[in-house]
Amino acid sequence: MTENRLAIIVLAAGQGTRMKSRLPKVLHPIAGRPLVGHVLTTASVLGADHIEVVVRHERDQVVSAISAQYPDAVIVDQDEIPGTGRAVQVAVDALPSDFEGDVLVLSGDVPLLEADTLQSLLAGHRRAEAAATILSALLDDPTGYGRIIRDEAGTVSRIVEQKDATAEEAAVAEINAGVYVFRASALRSFLPQIDQNNAQGELYLTDVIGLLRQAQHTVAAEIAADTAATFGVNDRAQLAEAGRVLNARIVRRWQRDGVSIMDPATTWIDDDAKLSSDVTILPNTHIVGATVIESGAVIGPDTTLVDCEVGADAVIKRTDATLAVIGAGTTVGPFAFIRPGTVLADGGKIGTFVETKNSTIGAGSKVPHLSYIGDTTIGERVNIGAGAITANYDDLVKHRTEIGDEVHTGSHNVFVAPVRIGDGAKTGAGAVVRKDVPAGALALSVAPQRNVEGWVEKNRAGTGAAEAASRANRAAE
Ligand code: UD1
Ligand code: CA
Repeated sequence: MTENRLAIIVLAAGQGTRMKSRLPKVLHPIAGRPLVGHVLTTASVLGADHIEVVVRHERDQVVSAISAQYPDAVIVDQDEIPGTGRAVQVAVDALPSDFEGDVLVLSGDVPLLEADTLQSLLAGHRRAEAAATILSALLDDPTGYGRIIRDEAGTVSRIVEQKDATAEEAAVAEINAGVYVFRASALRSFLPQIDQNNAQGELYLTDVIGLLRQAQHTVAAEIAADTAATFGVNDRAQLAEAGRVLNARIVRRWQRDGVSIMDPATTWIDDDAKLSSDVTILPNTHIVGATVIESGAVIGPDTTLVDCEVGADAVIKRTDATLAVIGAGTTVGPFAFIRPGTVLADGGKIGTFVETKNSTIGAGSKVPHLSYIGDTTIGERVNIGAGAITANYDDLVKHRTEIGDEVHTGSHNVFVAPVRIGDGAKTGAGAVVRKDVPAGALALSVAPQRNVEGWVEKNRAGTGAAEAASRANRAAE
């Protein structure tokens, strides 16, 4: 059925002037993915024979972002002639010349549309045997969008851009979402007829609609049921708004899958993250990138996890973690800084004011308080005393600290790497461990304590300390 063949054209060549950004508009991310990535993700499930992306502004940057994620998308370069009409024209020219199906045009800056909306737009277009079908929406505030102008009978007659609209036309609430299906032949016949005689001096794709109607072709507009899904991003305020809407949708999806999310307004979950049922997310928590969280884990409040793997029943409180594996049944935080390469095995603990990096902490082992653990391997059932520092950097290179199983270290130790602590060894409080400690040894490196009796009363006479010392000494006599 050749008439049901489908090509998708994604428009991504515009500069995005209103973003006032070095980054091309379509690469600005929401929910961890560029705007144009959301459009391509949706496009990729529609079973199209061709997907084309039209690029021009910062083309290399846009192309590398697209090609990495969507290798099947064909890149089409727009020339110096501006406007959405020109963009579609170069894309249609790049299709096989015998392509005779439907062409779905999507905007790289309209990121919230879902596949079912586009499926029903396509189905309606095919049922009506229309030359073109526009996705429209009824907005309380249509400012900035093209308006759908209908005749007395209610039939679409043309689209007028905001900048070209009369006051009467600007008052129309039905807008063009920038998403349409065209019969390929309609585009081939009518795109060459549009001109740049408009407020922006561009070739408007929207002018094809008026031309089709003048030539008595059928044009339909389907009003989107979900108005928010047609939202277009032109500036940073709209970017944030689109991000909020998408996040609310992602949060709702996980709630329906059995995740407890106490405060959707302050919980941000990227599109690529994966959560299991019976995960609990507490307020002010950001689940970023490809983070995966297993059942029963409790995350937050005030926690950011970037590309982390979190095991079942882990409890992570007030923590910032990136590229870390946090095992099942562990506890982390409050106030932990977990840097890339940290692996905390099952049942372990990283406690308060602890920073870790490129380190493995074995099953059941604990780093509870005030420590820096970098480039370190810690065995199983180890307890690291409060205030441990691995001195991993000698100014030139990073060295490793290796700590065996069942080791207990004293408070306020410095491990001067490279250094190894054998299984079952212990270290005294305040030790600076510069030499390897054999299995089962006790390492002491602090000089024996010497008390100079009466020093305060002699050298600090008249101070509160001296008076307190005298009182205590008299009472002891
Ligand atoms: C466009 C529509 C408007 C609609 C709105 C919906 C036109 C003339 N107007 O307006 O009716 O209500 O979208 O969001 O089509 N682009 C190119 N090449 C270009 C210019 C733009 O590929 O030469 C791309 C942009 O990257 C963007 C999309 O086309 O992804 C829309 O362009 P934009 O300038 O944002 O059009 P709007 O003014 O929003
Ligand atoms: Ca736009």
